[in-house]
Amino acid sequence: MNINIKAMIDEELTVVKKETLILGIETSCDETAAAVVSDGQNILSNIISSQVELHARFGGVVPEIASRQHLEIINSIIDDALQESGLTFKDLDAVSVSHGPGLVGALLVGVATAKALAYGLKLPLIAVNHLQAHLYANYLDGAPRVYPTVILIVSGGHTELLLAGKPKEIISLGCTRDDAAGEAYDKVARVLELGYPGGPVIDKLAREGNPAAIKFPRSWLEDQGRFDFSFSGLKTAVINHLYHARRKEEKINIPDLAASFQEALTEVLVEKTLRAAKEYNAKAVFLAGGVASNSRLREWMRSSIEIALPGTELHIPRPILCTDNAAMIAAAAYPLYLEKKFAPLSLNAQPGLPARV
Ligand code: KG4
Ligand code: ZN
Repeated sequence: MNINIKAMIDEELTVVKKETLILGIETSCDETAAAVVSDGQNILSNIISSQVELHARFGGVVPEIASRQHLEIINSIIDDALQESGLTFKDLDAVSVSHGPGLVGALLVGVATAKALAYGLKLPLIAVNHLQAHLYANYLDGAPRVYPTVILIVSGGHTELLLAGKPKEIISLGCTRDDAAGEAYDKVARVLELGYPGGPVIDKLAREGNPAAIKFPRSWLEDQGRFDFSFSGLKTAVINHLYHARRKEEKINIPDLAASFQEALTEVLVEKTLRAAKEYNAKAVFLAGGVASNSRLREWMRSSIEIALPGTELHIPRPILCTDNAAMIAAAAYPLYLEKKFAPLSLNAQPGLPARV
């Protein structure tokens, strides 16, 4: 009898298959992104197109411009993601998309694109919570899967403290009542005429300033929501300070002002994260979002955790995975794929989707 061993092995390998290849799509704010991730862990491609330049002259993200730009380039971003991964649509096992929270028009572009692809390719559609996906960005970048973990997400659109109590259980401990941390940076930079985005330039200027020069308020919200944040009072205090100084024709020391603003904002972020980590006996603290690249926040968080919680590990992903990206969407979709938690083709954008499922 003639047995074709090679054919048998090939067949076996095809049955065992194979890695799970998920396409991720992210359009919740001002980054148009697509990525292919294998088995929720290996990034085969991660294409991100930032719209910062388009929004710069307005000093912040303009929702209408954001959605139009997503629409303009989403297809080519997906093509690039496939090309870079060396795959074709036929190789994919699922299409995942961030369906909220975010800007409704922006989210809709990603959701409609993902639905069309899933329908056309006869693939499962997976709806991913954008905030929860930030946790997976940390895992993608080698963070330990230990529980409980406290995650601080600080971006232009969000300021949120999450708790991953056990696998797949994520709850929100608190969020901002008004401006997000990055939004406060951007608005303060706008009144100082420093351009957009404001975070990096304030971060740089603050290094030359005295953080104790001006005592700006810290909002602790002790009675109402211990893990909630509020930055609009701080922003108003900076505006008032400028107004009075200009009226009295006093010389304004911009580095001192930048450093004092940054100090007030960072102290609240660090202190609340530490409190949450202590209260929930966190084994790890993760940071995510554009503001996680702030040098003062990184340094302050690191030293505070080392002193107050020496057994707790701090993890901050590379900047490319800190900010919005689609690799984190595809990674977060993987456990949902394994559980066959697929979304219907009637899936809609959910701009106010909370972090808690
Ligand atoms: O996560 P991200 O890239 O985009 C979204 O908000 O979706 O975050 C952008 C925000 C902007 O508000 C920007 O000013 C802020 O992150 N940011 C910083 C720094 N780099 C970026 N804020 C403080 N310090 C930085 N070094
Ligand atoms: Zn985000």
